Amino acid sequence: MITLKSKREIEIMRDSGRIVAEVLAEVRQKCRAGVTTLELDRAAEAATVRSGAVPAFKNYRGYPGSLCTSVNHQVVHGIPGDYEVKEGDIVSMDFGVLYKGYYGDSAITVGVPPLAGDTVRLLEVTEECLYRGIEQMLPGNHLADLSRAIQVHAESAGFSLVREFGGHGIGRSLHEDPMVLNYVSNGRGIRLKPGLVLAVEPMVNQGGEEVEILPDGWTVVTCDRRPSAHFEHTIAVTENGPEILTQTAG
Ligand code: MF3
Ligand code: CO
Repeated sequence: MITLKSKREIEIMRDSGRIVAEVLAEVRQKCRAGVTTLELDRAAEAATVRSGAVPAFKNYRGYPGSLCTSVNHQVVHGIPGDYEVKEGDIVSMDFGVLYKGYYGDSAITVGVPPLAGDTVRLLEVTEECLYRGIEQMLPGNHLADLSRAIQVHAESAGFSLVREFGGHGIGRSLHEDPMVLNYVSNGRGIRLKPGLVLAVEPMVNQGGEEVEILPDGWTVVTCDRRPSAHFEHTIAVTENGPEILTQTAG
């Protein structure tokens, strides 16, 4: 069931989204050679508690961290631990909070220089895919317009899209309908209306699209072990077009 949000609800979600963005800005700064993924997780959790919000992922279906940290060939849902980030790594950091009854969800992939040229390109294209998708979030467009924009951009750069995971509606629950595919399947999908709030999250692989889950039950990795990038925002459809909620105030 799809629940449209009122202006009042979107106001609250702007606050949850701002908190997520502030936490990600903080861990982005800390993501340097020598830091462990557990230190990044701890920093995210501390910043969240200071803001009065609750980390959304911790204990979600048994997930042990607050921040998902997915390095290099890890696609999403990596578990923070004693891995030390090193030069040349790319680190996806996916984070969500619950604040005043509403969720916010966002992800960035940060490179630790120096990066290989094709890795820089992977990060650029994946972030561009997110914005190409967001641009399509206009009242009257269909969900498939968004999916198509993401797919066309990634594939024309020679990259592939993960199919097993995608974005989602978000609000009082972390995952609501509709599912937001990052590729065109069948049909145009639902018509977008003001009040629809979506988490859009392209996962783009440098090599093949195939992924598998590690024995830890969470970490999604590429089958060919080539790098993968992930960017996500929570966005509301408004009469005036898309409003990105997971942004800092400034
Ligand atoms: N952005 C991810 C998602 O929407 C975060 C969930 S991680 C989990 O699936 F650990 F909470 F599952
Ligand atoms: Co999400």
